[in-house]
Amino acid sequence: MITTEEVLKALKFVQYPGMQKNIVDYKFIRDLEVENSGKVSFTVSFKTTQKEIEEPLKKMVLEALREVGGITEINVKMDVSILETPPKQEPKPAPGPIDKDPDLIPEVKHTILVSSAKGGVGKSTVSLNLALALAKEGAKVGLLDSDVYGPSLPIMTGLEGKQPKSDDEKIVPIEKFGLKLMSIGFLVAREDALIWRGPMVMQAVQQLLKDVAWGELDYLVVDLPPGTGDTQLTFSQKVNLAGAVIVTTPQDVALIDTARGIDMFNKTNVPILGLIENMSYFLCPHCGNREEIFSNNGGKTESKRLGIDFLGEIPLNLAIREGGDSGEPIFFAKPDSEIAKTFTNISKQITKKLPFEEKNGLLSKVKSLFN
Ligand SMILES: Nc1ncnc2c1ncn2[C@@H]1O[C@H](COP(=O)(O)OP(=O)(O)O)[C@@H](O)[C@H]1O
Ligand SMILES: [Mg+2]
Repeated sequence: MITTEEVLKALKFVQYPGMQKNIVDYKFIRDLEVENSGKVSFTVSFKTTQKEIEEPLKKMVLEALREVGGITEINVKMDVSILETPPKQEPKPAPGPIDKDPDLIPEVKHTILVSSAKGGVGKSTVSLNLALALAKEGAKVGLLDSDVYGPSLPIMTGLEGKQPKSDDEKIVPIEKFGLKLMSIGFLVAREDALIWRGPMVMQAVQQLLKDVAWGELDYLVVDLPPGTGDTQLTFSQKVNLAGAVIVTTPQDVALIDTARGIDMFNKTNVPILGLIENMSYFLCPHCGNREEIFSNNGGKTESKRLGIDFLGEIPLNLAIREGGDSGEPIFFAKPDSEIAKTFTNISKQITKKLPFEEKNGLLSKVKSLFN
C-alpha cells in the first residue's frame, strides 16, 4: 500500500521555479491524505506574485506522482494567494557637482573615504592604520570616524570617554599618534545617536566637517559606516573627494553589495582608489608563517573584474585585533612589522594616485623667483 512518506518523497522532486528548494521543504503541501484504495489527496498552498505559476506547478506535481506505484486517484487542490508586486522604486538622480560645499573643509587637500559593503570587515582598523602610515611619511593627517550609529574610533585609540575642547565656536579634534581625531563618539552618547533619522545624520556629518577645527591637512581619512546610506551620499554630494578605498574580506569580496558600493561611487563621480582585502590569510603570531585559509586571490581577481586597482592584502592576525581593543593600533605598536610595511605600501600607492600639490616647498619657491 502507498504511504504518505512515499508521496512526499516523490513530491520532493518538484522544485519551485526559480527557487532553491522543493515544494515539500518549503512546506507548501498541506492536508495530505492517503486512503486504502490508493486515492491521494492534498493541497498545494503558497503565496506568489505570479499567478501564472499555478498551472505549470500543478502539472509538475502530477508528473512527479505519475511514476509512483499504487496510486489510483489524485486529488490536488491549488491554494494560491496572490501577493501584490511592490511598486518599483525610482532610482535617485545622481547628484551633480553643483551641490558641493567648498566651505566645509576648505583647508583639507585630499579627502579619502574608506568604505565597505558590510560591517566588521575591518574598515575602521584599516582607516586608522592607513592614517598612521600617511602621517609617518610626514603628512598632516586627520581621521574622521563618520559612523554615527557605531563609532569605534574612541576605543581603537584608547580615548573612550574623552571630550574634545571647543575653541572659537569650533570643536578641536583630539590629537594622538600624530593624528587629528574626531568621532561622533566623542560628542554624543551612543543611545542618542541611534535614534537619528536620515536628515539628522546628514546634518551631523556636515557638522563633523564644518564645525571641527581641522585646520590645514594634507589628508583627511574618513571611516564610513558600512553600505551606501546617507553618510556616503552626504560625502559624495557635498565634499570634493580625492577618492574612495574599498575594504573587503575574502568571504564577501564577490558580494553584490561590494559592486553596488562601487556603482554608487561611479554614479556620483567619486574616483575609486582601489580595493584592500583584509583578513586575507592567516599570519601565525608565533612563527610568522603564512597560511592560506581561504582560496586565495579572490580580491585580486575581483578587482580585475570590477576594473579597479588592487592595493594590497592584510592578514588575519591577533596583534591587529589586540591593537584595536587596547587602543594601540598595530602600525603604532609594531612599526617595523610586516603588517605595518603593508600599510605603508598601500598608503604609497594611494598617494601616488593623487595630484601632487606643493604649497611651500622648493617648487613654489623657484616659481616665485620668476613672478
Ligand atoms: N586583519 C585583522 N586581523 C584580526 N582582527 C581584525 C583584523 N581587522 C579587523 N580586525 C578586528 O575585527 C573587528 C572589526 O573590525 P573593524 O575595523 O571595527 O571593522 P568595521 O569598521 O568594518 O566594522 C575588530 O575587533 C578588529 O580589531
Ligand atoms: Mg567601523
